[in-house]
Amino acid sequence: MLRIAASLVLLAAAAPAQEKKTEKLAPYYPTPEFVVNKMLEFGGLKRGEKMFDLGSGDGRIVIMAAQKFGANATGVEMDNDLWKQSMDKIRSLGLEKTARIIHGDITTQDYSSADLITVYLLPTSNDKVSPILEKQLKKGTRIVSHDFEFSGWKPEKTETIDDDGEGRSHTLYLYRR
Ligand SMILES: C[S@@+](CC[C@H](N)C(=O)[O-])C[C@H]1O[C@@H](n2cnc3c(N)ncnc32)[C@H](O)[C@@H]1O
Repeated sequence: MLRIAASLVLLAAAAPAQEKKTEKLAPYYPTPEFVVNKMLEFGGLKRGEKMFDLGSGDGRIVIMAAQKFGANATGVEMDNDLWKQSMDKIRSLGLEKTARIIHGDITTQDYSSADLITVYLLPTSNDKVSPILEKQLKKGTRIVSHDFEFSGWKPEKTETIDDDGEGRSHTLYLYRR
């Protein structure tokens, strides 16, 4: 009996730690391409700068940041199909050196090298992400949030696009650490 109990203890110790389940911080809802362009201009993205899109969907922000703005762009996406689709697009455009998508969780990445962060999540998700960014980001890093503010942070600038042609309005918030 004692031997069985000891074996169970040993087995439990040897078992891999339970992987933390990734929490879905927002559904997939893509930013229209012309708003993507505005977000990157609004964030003052320059050639060679490092940018991260938190929850990168089909990769459109990362791809435009690398292709049009000459940035070093990284997306983070939990969804397997969206991650695959965005990596296929990056490869087909030959952007592998300056663009990539991490298949993972927004809340477990290292953003300390970022010059610009783009976010299109939800207000409660921004509350979950803000302590991570406050801890990691270097002074001067810009953050552009689409539609939802970060409570407790004061935006440096805001801009609203009243109608995108499909009856949808978009507000951009620019923050600086
Ligand atoms: C509103 S969409 C924005 C997509 C893209 N950034 C854009 O603006 O077009 C949010 C994305 O975040 C992804 N997402 C949600 N929670 C996540 C998490 N914890 N880690 C990684 N990706 C996540 C979703 O799968 C979805 O693709």
